[in-house]
Amino acid sequence: MKLPRFTYSLLAAAAFSSALGVNTCNAAPSDDARISVGQHQFSSSCAMCHATEKSQGTIVGPNLSGVYGRQIGKLAGFQYSETLRNAKGTWDEATLNAFLKSPQAAQPGTAMPFSGLKNDDARSALIAYLKSLH
Ligand code: HEC
Repeated sequence: MKLPRFTYSLLAAAAFSSALGVNTCNAAPSDDARISVGQHQFSSSCAMCHATEKSQGTIVGPNLSGVYGRQIGKLAGFQYSETLRNAKGTWDEATLNAFLKSPQAAQPGTAMPFSGLKNDDARSALIAYLKSLH
């Protein structure tokens, strides 16, 4: 049977959205919940200094869009402390966890004026949120 062209588009759209539906179901709901807890944490502890949309540029600290997996202290155009500028490695689970628990202990001399988020659950949710920023 020959279907009009738009029917194929509808079928493709339906297939696509059901694929999305499957993904949404597979993603443990707790992931989304953790991200939203982390986002809340971010709004109260970080957002006054860090933008999360690339287009928002710099506030006090470097823009954090895509921070997960990014090299430490290397975002072009941001004036880092010597500590972060010379730091090696990338922002991953371990480096973010240590830095957010105690910025000064993890990166002595960092210019980030934040004493640290000591609660393990809150920090882990916050990192889940940072991971979701692209
Ligand atoms: C009062 C302002 C301020 C607050 C609050 C703050 N930051 Fe920062 N942040 C900075 C500054 C300034 C730097 C750059 C530090 C340096 O150069 O040593 C920085 C650096 C960072 C970096 C390194 C980014 C890179 O490009 O290497 C991360 C990650 C980060 N902050 C995450 C956070 C998170 C998450 C929070 C909330 C828990 C937070 N910051 C709270 C000001 C702040």
